[in-house]
Order: sequence, then structure tokens, then C-alpha cells
Amino acid sequence: MLVKPPVQAEIAIIGGSGLYNIPELKNVNEYKVYTPYGEPSDKVVVGELDGRKIAFLPRHGRGHRIPPHRINYRANIWALKALGASWVISFAAVGSLREEMRPGDFVVPDQFIDMTKGIRDFTFFEGGTVAHVSMADPFCEHLRRVILEAAKEVAGLRVHPKGTYICIEGPRFSTRAESRLWRDVFGADIIGMTLVPEVNLACEAQMCYATVAMVTDYDVWAERPVTAEEVVRVMEENTVKARSLIPLIVRRLPDKPDERMCSCCRSLETALI
Ligand code: ADE
Repeated sequence: MLVKPPVQAEIAIIGGSGLYNIPELKNVNEYKVYTPYGEPSDKVVVGELDGRKIAFLPRHGRGHRIPPHRINYRANIWALKALGASWVISFAAVGSLREEMRPGDFVVPDQFIDMTKGIRDFTFFEGGTVAHVSMADPFCEHLRRVILEAAKEVAGLRVHPKGTYICIEGPRFSTRAESRLWRDVFGADIIGMTLVPEVNLACEAQMCYATVAMVTDYDVWAERPVTAEEVVRVMEENTVKARSLIPLIVRRLPDKPDERMCSCCRSLETALI
């Protein structure tokens, strides 16, 4: 971004399937943010929650127009960084690869496996400057802890504090053979199509990033027939829980970004060549 936008928001929220707005935001304005990578998924909504400035961006665009493999992840992360965000709380619908991770549960993953096909633009460092960021612990541990603490206050919410998210290319779902491979051989716990490269770009941008994965279905390993009606119902219930969780997370984040208790803001110190 060549020109600093007129508004700053310290906390960014990326909405996934079902979460296209946050009605609780006050004094809302929308901004079309221009980036060197083209257009973000939608205008960024900036508003206030509990006196904090929040930037909200629906990953698939309003009305769910953009499939996972066509999302302009670089423009999205660039736009949120340009607006001043230090924290990115991302919400995503996922399938479950474990019996105990039931539809309606939330998982705050601590690891991921990348099974995308390398066709997404996955780095800001295309040459000139070369950077290899560490992905050993891909999610901000501080932000994960804050989310887990906040989730205890949401009545009736079952939360799994760890899990490995496998990111497939999509837009198709897995075959049964693939689903069993992810679960039994790779040891993944949940499956989705959008975490990569969002998480690595946020890391390159030195932002604290964590995902709230909202289980909508058992993936096909389970051999349970899933109806679209069921998935829609669970997704609606998950959206209600996500909306009650957001203010509880926001309230717990430190007022000043330099009070971040992690090394995300220094991710490039050991990465640049
Ligand atoms: N998103 C929600 N459910 C999913 C599944 N079963 N596989 C991949 N992505 C998903």
C-alpha cells in the first residue's frame, strides 16, 4: 500500500463460510482497499467493539462468491496489515476426521498440513528479497490461549484446544480413500480448504494469527450420510456461537500491539536472506 489508509484497526477478523458480517460492530464504515496484489475478497468493514477498532473481511466475499482456490489471500492479508492490524482471528468451517470432534464443536488448531497443489500465491517474497519464515509453530500461541480462555465463557460450546488442520485444494471434497489417508496415515484431525496460504502470509506480514475452526460435518471416512440441510443447520448454529465468542476474545487482547507476548512480530528477523 503506497498511501496509508485514513483509518486504522488493530484487530482483524476474517469470516469463513456462514460468517459474512458482525452485527455487533458499531460506527461501521466500509473501505475498498487497493493492494499491489489486486482486490481483496470484499470491502473491509471497520467498526468498534468494546472501544476497540476491528477490521472485518469475509474470506469468500459477501454472498459466498469466491471459491477457496480463487481467494486472493495476498490481497486480503495485505489489506488487513495496511489497515494496521496486529492480530488476525480467522474463522473457518471444517470437516472432522475424529469421532470426538463433533459437528458443532470448535477446534483451535496448533498445527497444519499443506495438501494444496501449489497453484495459490503463497508468499509476499517472490525474489529480490528472499525469506524463509519458520512454520514450526504456525499459529500465535498467545492468541490461541486468548481464544481458548474466551471460549470457556460461551455457554454450551465444546472446544478442542489442539488439532492438526489439513488443507486440501478443493473445491471438491475428499474421496473416502483420501479421507482415511489424512486421518489414519497423516494423523490430521480436521479438514478444510482455506487455511493455506492465509496462515503463512500472516506470518510473513509479522501478524499474530490463529484460527477458530468450526466443525460442520464428519468427513467421508466416517461413512455417515450427511445432508445439506444438516450442514446448513450446524453452520447457522456455529455462526451464532462465533458471534458470541468474538467480543470475549477482543476484550482479552492487550491494548497495545507492542504488549504482544509472542514472537510473531519478529518472524522476519530470522527469515531474511
Ligand atoms: N469444509 C467443511 N467441511 C469440509 C470437508 N469435509 N472437507 C473439506 N473442507 C470442508
